Amino acid sequence: MRIAMIGTGYVGLVSGACFADFGHHVICVDKDKDKIAALERGVMPIFEPGLGELVEHNFREGRLKFSEEFAEPVRDAEAIFIAVGTPSRRGDGHADLSYVYTAAREIAAELDHFTVVITKSTVPVGTGDEVDRIIRGLRPDINVAVVSNPEFLREGAAIRDFKHPDRIVVGTDDARAKDVMAELYRPLYLNAAPILYTGRRTAELIKYAANAFLATKITFINEIAELCEKIGADVQEVARGIGLDNRIGTKFLHAGPGFGGSCFPKDTNALIKTAQDHAVPLRIVEAVLAVNDVRKRAMARKVAAAFGGKLRGKTIALLGLTFKPNTDDMREAPSIALVIALQDMGAKVRAYDPAGMEQAKSVLNQVTYCDSPYSCAEDADALVIVTEWQEFRALDLDRLKQIMACPVLIDLRNVYRPEDVVRRGFLYDSVGRPGPISIVDQPVNRLAPAG
Ligand SMILES: NC(=O)c1ccc[n+]([C@@H]2O[C@H](COP(=O)([O-])OP(=O)(O)OC[C@H]3O[C@@H](n4cnc5c(N)ncnc54)[C@H](O)[C@@H]3O)[C@@H](O)[C@H]2O)c1
Repeated sequence: MRIAMIGTGYVGLVSGACFADFGHHVICVDKDKDKIAALERGVMPIFEPGLGELVEHNFREGRLKFSEEFAEPVRDAEAIFIAVGTPSRRGDGHADLSYVYTAAREIAAELDHFTVVITKSTVPVGTGDEVDRIIRGLRPDINVAVVSNPEFLREGAAIRDFKHPDRIVVGTDDARAKDVMAELYRPLYLNAAPILYTGRRTAELIKYAANAFLATKITFINEIAELCEKIGADVQEVARGIGLDNRIGTKFLHAGPGFGGSCFPKDTNALIKTAQDHAVPLRIVEAVLAVNDVRKRAMARKVAAAFGGKLRGKTIALLGLTFKPNTDDMREAPSIALVIALQDMGAKVRAYDPAGMEQAKSVLNQVTYCDSPYSCAEDADALVIVTEWQEFRALDLDRLKQIMACPVLIDLRNVYRPEDVVRRGFLYDSVGRPGPISIVDQPVNRLAPAG
């Protein structure tokens, strides 16, 4: 099939490359000329494992092309995906749909035969109706079917998620559109990934309900983690103890510094706004967002607790800045609130991230960037693991102890076992487990680091 992918960001590029890999002919369109030029030279605009090879292979085979022009790709296509951004709108936090509606108008201008227009961007309920209205209003001469097909891929595992989805959600009542969608996803369907056909509005809501539920799970375990710290329980064991119940499941039960990223914060916010507009406030989701916001900044107090609550003049070294490993995406990363809170308390911040430092530079001020975990830790008063990149899982603790000014490790992802760290002479604190602890005195008072 011939596909035009409007918007070549995370979702557009990954989906476009995967559809091309299935054998379809895809043109990825984007207004960002530099991005298109870079892609044509084989330079990826984002860090995503396996993406460079996938793009290069399909580009070479002639199935994947890039363009800054709308006209030809849209006119030729049998299916047009809208995969542009839907960021939080300034002012009220609802989804900003201006990019989606602009794309709809631009598509309408070029259509010349029956085409299926598919919204892959995450959009509030009713957006498909509006896209439909825009296109039919501008082009009453052309028949279109506007379909909702939300995307569930996760950054860092995007290609695997696209090629092995738990389900494919297709929101349309149009029989011809259903056939086109079945053909587009046929390779996955043959692999038994279920296609769920629903109404358009239902499909739009499924995406938001899924993200809100996952955000709720994370926030639930984060609150349980806080309780664990106060009562001497271990959140890792609680999470396992509840997660092994099939009705609950083990995923998204990892306590940490709060959720971030390009989706959960903005999507929970947009869902709350949609619900308020319909006078059905979603109080659980509202609480999730509020609890999460407070939590990110509260992580700075956890660092300060190791120093009796005072950080003025201390040097704090952060490992990991991106909102999760295997991405360079800094959108709404918990590290942003943490860095600002540490600086507000008078600390100097150093940081190392394997992929996110370039992006971080545009959102964080007065941070010293380092080129390895060890150069970051040098002369630091505390080392804080913020993102659980693989390379932070087996740090040489003896070496760290020698080069740091104080052997203090604050592990916001529970990567280490407390006894292993403490045995090496560190003062150690983590999330949802008793702490801070040191060999001197377990648990220690929160006044000063050991060693
Ligand atoms: N990033 C994720 O993990 C993820 C996962 C699932 C769903 N989504 C959703 O997918 C959508 C896209 O997200 P993203 O992270 O890929 O965004 P992004 O910001 O990385 O990319 C959007 C791209 O669209 C381009 N664009 C905007 N208007 C355009 C137009 N009229 N014509 C051509 N190009 C245009 C921009 O230049 C940009 O390159 C959002 O609604 C998001 O919520 C994202």
